[in-house]
Amino acid sequence: MANFVISIYAFYMEFALSINAHKSRFSPATRMRHVNPFRVMTVLQRAKALEAQGRKIVHLEVGEPDFVTAPPILEAGRNALAQGYTAYTPAAGLPQLRERIAAHYLDTQGVVVSPERIFVTPGASGALSLVAQMLINPGDGVLMSDPGYPCNRNYVRLAGGTAQLVPVTAETNYQLSAAMLDEVCDESTRGVWAASPNNPTGTVLSRASLQAISQWCEQRDAHFLVDEIYHGLDYVDGLPSVLRVCDEALVINSFSKYFGMTGWRLGWLVVPQVLVEAANILAQNLFIAASTVAQHAALRAFDPETTVILEQRRAAFRQRRDFLTTALAELGFTIAVPTQGAFYIYAGIEAFSSNSERFCQILLDEFGVAVTPGTDFGDFENQRYVRFAFTTSMQELELAVERLRGAVASGRLAQ
Ligand SMILES: Cc1ncc(COP(=O)(O)O)c(C=O)c1O
Repeated sequence: MANFVISIYAFYMEFALSINAHKSRFSPATRMRHVNPFRVMTVLQRAKALEAQGRKIVHLEVGEPDFVTAPPILEAGRNALAQGYTAYTPAAGLPQLRERIAAHYLDTQGVVVSPERIFVTPGASGALSLVAQMLINPGDGVLMSDPGYPCNRNYVRLAGGTAQLVPVTAETNYQLSAAMLDEVCDESTRGVWAASPNNPTGTVLSRASLQAISQWCEQRDAHFLVDEIYHGLDYVDGLPSVLRVCDEALVINSFSKYFGMTGWRLGWLVVPQVLVEAANILAQNLFIAASTVAQHAALRAFDPETTVILEQRRAAFRQRRDFLTTALAELGFTIAVPTQGAFYIYAGIEAFSSNSERFCQILLDEFGVAVTPGTDFGDFENQRYVRFAFTTSMQELELAVERLRGAVASGRLAQ
């Protein structure tokens, strides 16, 4: 049913765009045809509407930390404003910040990355957009996991490329493997985009997998991009950056998640030396520079006193993960691979429903719990899964579990 609704929507967009192309000077460009909406935003909108009617909603849909940015970073942001740091920075970012990021790679991964290769961007989103525009030609194929972060398909499509979705299952930790890439690639394939930890599955790529995929890319002259935005928010020992195994990979990261700075809009991109000039030219044109105040604030993000706070928060996320994973499993959800990083649980709902969108709608409307349907993250088995984000307090999680118990007992979820 949901796929049917999506097809109707795609047909409608196609139709509306073709009619509008002749009718209105404000009709969206044809490349918009294949950009799909973010369903989690629809869930959020519906949840807010219910709240406006006086309902108490538990939010397990939103992918951003519930903690306010750590005090040392806030203080640095306030100081930057007080000192009048309101002009543009260089396109690649403040040199001091790029050096701090390079030092962070040495401290946490033991790898030397020249600051010259680090570009500070408006969020990881700015970095993804930069990579897509820099590396993808019309007709190029980019392999990526299904399920995966929904915007990636759209960055590729907006650059004229094709997102080549690779279905992944629990058998490979819901991650890509070199063998799978062999099966899905074709002569158009020019790149592989992965995320470790991944959204929505919360699973990571081991060092061996990173190495195998980077070798695969090297043999086929394809670029390899790894989104490491959830690094730091991981619950495994020594999570490897791809830079440990391959100096020529592109790496996405951000101050949004581990550093708790979503609204500051600050991320970064590491490029191979050969792409430094191209990235610089494109950064100048796409966004001139990332936010100056945010960059000054982020200079304190790596300070030991900030790290203490961020590590306490990571421990809180781990506690929430443990609680919610156990509770969901007891209620009958299938959790094939426990969350290894990020703040998501990717749970199978086959015991309750065969329609994840309907499941989420009933859960929200009738039981006041907002979660995201699998349909947001790809096509493969998307009716079988929902994503729980544990970006809320233990108290709220306890309330969510109580409501979920009521929902399961009611039998309504099968409707
Ligand atoms: C995997 C992944 N990459 C990138 C982003 C974008 O993050 P940012 O806020 O840094 O733009 C998100 C946001 O949820 C994400 O989950």
